[in-house]
Amino acid sequence: MIIYFSGTGNSKLLAHYLAEKLNDKIIDLGSVIDKPEKWHFSSKSPFVFVCPIYAWQIPRKISQILANATFEGNDAAYFFVTMGGQYAAADKYIYKILSNKLNILGFKGITMPDNFTIVFKAPVEDEAIACIKRSINDVDRYIEMIKDRKLLPSSDHHFWDNFLSETINNCFYRFMLDSCSFGCNDNCIKCKQCINDCPCKNITLKDNKIAFGNNCMFCLKCINLCPVKAITYKNKPLKKGNYKCPEIEKITS
Ligand SMILES: Cc1cc2nc3c(=O)[nH]c(=O)nc-3n(C[C@H](O)[C@H](O)[C@H](O)COP(=O)(O)O)c2cc1C
Ligand code: SF4
Ligand code: SF4
Repeated sequence: MIIYFSGTGNSKLLAHYLAEKLNDKIIDLGSVIDKPEKWHFSSKSPFVFVCPIYAWQIPRKISQILANATFEGNDAAYFFVTMGGQYAAADKYIYKILSNKLNILGFKGITMPDNFTIVFKAPVEDEAIACIKRSINDVDRYIEMIKDRKLLPSSDHHFWDNFLSETINNCFYRFMLDSCSFGCNDNCIKCKQCINDCPCKNITLKDNKIAFGNNCMFCLKCINLCPVKAITYKNKPLKKGNYKCPEIEKITS
């Protein structure tokens, strides 16, 4: 069973690729992320998790779901995070959350185009496709190992990884994750895509204007995917371009 969350599509692409190659079913946590009940997952095949890295950790809302979830059917698990370049000590926290429920046979960071476009320049489509194709070559190796339920090779840690995944991650949630920083300019065509797409149901139409609440997880789906680039961050539109993961057909062709 492939269980995933994705903001701008990188993790979704990887999850669908894994599901196809492993001939397994797929569950999207994004559609019901704030569901209050406990999640229960049942699978005879290994549980394969896929989600992005936010500030050197998996998104907090995803950790919370996994920490409360129960699993049955088998105990083998693999974890893939998609990232711009570094997950630091995110794996340690995953082991903490899941190792009393599942036998984690591997944790891998898969480098994908960076969607943190409020800071970094958005990759153009050709660069994005080339980056994903390189990473998918590694994933193919891991897929063969998952089929045999083998242990994936682990990666080394640097001494500053805990600092990034703990101290800086806490700062990110304390100071940066402020959904009031998102706004909407007059380019908005009221298509409601952002309202329908927001995994946290944090966007509404109030007095015929797009409004943001206080339940943001900073996935950047709204600001990256708005068709007319009407969403602003700190009153400015993205200057460095918008990012949307390319279609899977462009990667596999
Ligand atoms: C709020 C935020 C924080 C991020 N922090 C990191 C990070 O610490 N390390 C990293 O390598 N990439 C980071 N990224 C980049 C994403 O992890 C990466 O682009 C990921 O593949 C996006 O997945 P998605 O398209 O499935 O949402 C961050 C992205 C966002 C939106
Ligand atoms: S996606 Fe963009 S254009 Fe559509 S409603 Fe939201 S802000 Fe407006
Ligand atoms: S408001 Fe935008 S960035 Fe925040 S959770 Fe919703 S889609 Fe993601």
